[in-house]
Amino acid sequence: MRKNAAEIKIIKSPAALQKFSKKMQAQGKSIGLVPTMGALHKGHASLIEMSTKSNDITIVSIFVNPAQFGANEDFAIYPRRLKADVKLCATAGANIIFAPEPQAMYPLPLQTFVRNPSIEHLYCGKYRPTHFAGVLSVVAKLFNISLPSKAYFGEKDFQQLHLIKKMVHDLNFPVKIIGTKTIREKSGLAMSSRNEYMTQKEREAASSIYAGMITAKKTGKSLAELKTIIQKKIQQAGGKIQYIEIANKSDLMPAKTTKNSVILLACYFGKTRLIDHLEL
Ligand code: PAF
Repeated sequence: MRKNAAEIKIIKSPAALQKFSKKMQAQGKSIGLVPTMGALHKGHASLIEMSTKSNDITIVSIFVNPAQFGANEDFAIYPRRLKADVKLCATAGANIIFAPEPQAMYPLPLQTFVRNPSIEHLYCGKYRPTHFAGVLSVVAKLFNISLPSKAYFGEKDFQQLHLIKKMVHDLNFPVKIIGTKTIREKSGLAMSSRNEYMTQKEREAASSIYAGMITAKKTGKSLAELKTIIQKKIQQAGGKIQYIEIANKSDLMPAKTTKNSVILLACYFGKTRLIDHLEL
């Protein structure tokens, strides 16, 4: 249900949120968690709305997690705008925002990590070697702090979603992971907080990512042909490819055929790194 920003409670302490969540659980209330790094957009709003429909309490975590950024990445410049985020969360019907400082989440350097050595070095992990250990570890912490029965993630970060589902399965977290379809701009560009790094011209050119994948899906026959179609389309628009791979949807291992597979890619428009995917 739509709320005013003033009705949303902002909790900054992990201990305080855990206490609140335990109380809600004791009262038999279900908790939905939407983990985010803030700079929220329509994609996040749809996750929050989905959570409010099937949970008594929806918690949105807003935490730019230093553990998932590499040394030369965009941690320092990642957009932070809590006031606007609170408004979006209220409109989407969230009850609680969990917005801890890094010092509260990591009072001491983290020594214990959740890792998936089978997949963390593939695709995005090849270029961001510590990224997925940082993501899985903070998501595990967020689950233990918020005690959700359901947690909502966008399919946009396809490899991330796969790794989170695998973590929950392998480690028996009592949380149902709900993945939701990627929300796209009219041009086809996948919504992302990082889109705002781009100039208008780069943003328009970046629509070639989705267009390339759609053309490849329609006309490409072999795996190699599919990749070449996408590569050409992105390069013609001025983009720089980091990787284009095709993986099995089930285990995310490199695909041998296009059947039940997914295109995964990362590329640059200007200085902005974008990722996207399309199921085949
Ligand atoms: O997808 C994101 O925004 C982040 O990787 C997540 C899941 C909130 C963990 O920091």
